[in-house]
Amino acid sequence: MFDSVVTGSAGFIGSHLTDRLLDRGERVLGIDSFDSYYGRPQKVANLEGALASPRFRLLRADLRRVPLRRYVGAGTRLYHLAGQPGVRGSWGERFGHYVENNVLATQALFETVRRSGRRTRVVYASSSSVYGDQPPGAMPETARPNPISPYGMTKLAGEHLARAYAEAYGLPIVSTRFFTVFGPRQRPDMAFHRFFRAAATGRPIDVYGTGRQLRDFTYVDDIVAGVILAGDKEVDAAVLNLGRGSPVALSEAIREIGRVVGHPLPIRRRPLPAGDPPSTWSDTRLARRLLGYRPRVSLREGLERQWAWHQSLGRGSKS
Ligand code: NAD
Ligand code: UGA
Repeated sequence: MFDSVVTGSAGFIGSHLTDRLLDRGERVLGIDSFDSYYGRPQKVANLEGALASPRFRLLRADLRRVPLRRYVGAGTRLYHLAGQPGVRGSWGERFGHYVENNVLATQALFETVRRSGRRTRVVYASSSSVYGDQPPGAMPETARPNPISPYGMTKLAGEHLARAYAEAYGLPIVSTRFFTVFGPRQRPDMAFHRFFRAAATGRPIDVYGTGRQLRDFTYVDDIVAGVILAGDKEVDAAVLNLGRGSPVALSEAIREIGRVVGHPLPIRRRPLPAGDPPSTWSDTRLARRLLGYRPRVSLREGLERQWAWHQSLGRGSKS
């Protein structure tokens, strides 16, 4: 039996979570389909450290086709991070991937837990994108969800499934809403990854809209710390925000990246894509009260660590 199961363990956030759980001595089962949303080599590199551990086992498969029940004991914690991320790509024909990997796969996972008859604690990776367009200011969990992208809608569907299974069958499931996560191993479609890559090659960056949109950029280690706390503690909450609680305008983050790389980034203005919220801002009070959650890494420090990772890729290191 495993102490923890991490779905999406080869991905950006899932691989960091896997590393932290192994660091604290757990036996971890990782499940990942290595889907084609972005390059397989990055995902293989993400798991390089974990695969060296005798306490880690990887199943390369769609979680819908894994006989999960075999691996989940009463004390096993299940961290469900597998999914199809990305706000801007969720329009049009790719929507099917969002439904399959965010809704159908999530339902299959909850169904397996229900059928096992065990009270396995599940932490579901939800998203700030369920808030969508909101009145200005910090977003508390009590705000009415208002997704403005197909992606946000599928992540909210996952939350609704979590609530339905929790209420009907008494399963301990908590949804944690992550706010724009950054750091080493960030997905190649995300803003900071694209900006650092452009900075390394001297190309201009594409900035969508005015650059005045606010994002509560949150360092990956802080997200992972919150997810682990949510797995450890029997909290009486269905939904918890995990964000830094200090949003900055995208244009300010770009200036900070310029300071980290040592030169300002040349900018090309592009139209704002549909579904891009004007602001995300985590109200962190509930997570602080129930979990003792305290994000620690500043934007500057996190950017420096992410830049160091990009530079190490340039030198051929894969970590
Ligand atoms: P990622 O794409 O790097 O990781 C997701 C992983 O899930 C991938 O490795 C993929 O191969 C795997 N996967 C997808 N569908 C699968 C399936 N059906 N079965 C097995 N594996 C499957 O993405 P990420 O940025 O690490 O995001 C992880 C989770 O956190 C996602 O659920 C995402 O919606 C959520 N989230 C991410 C952010 C962020 O800023 N990165 C913010 C909010 C929420
Ligand atoms: C991120 C993740 O990609 C989603 O998977 C996640 O669910 C979401 O956070 C969340 O918080 O829930 P996003 O905020 O769009 O979504 O993250 P980035 O890709 O880092 O974009 C940040 C901002 O930069 C957005 O306003 C985007 O439009 C902008 N951007 C992005 C650019 O101006 N240029 C680019 O090349 C890329």
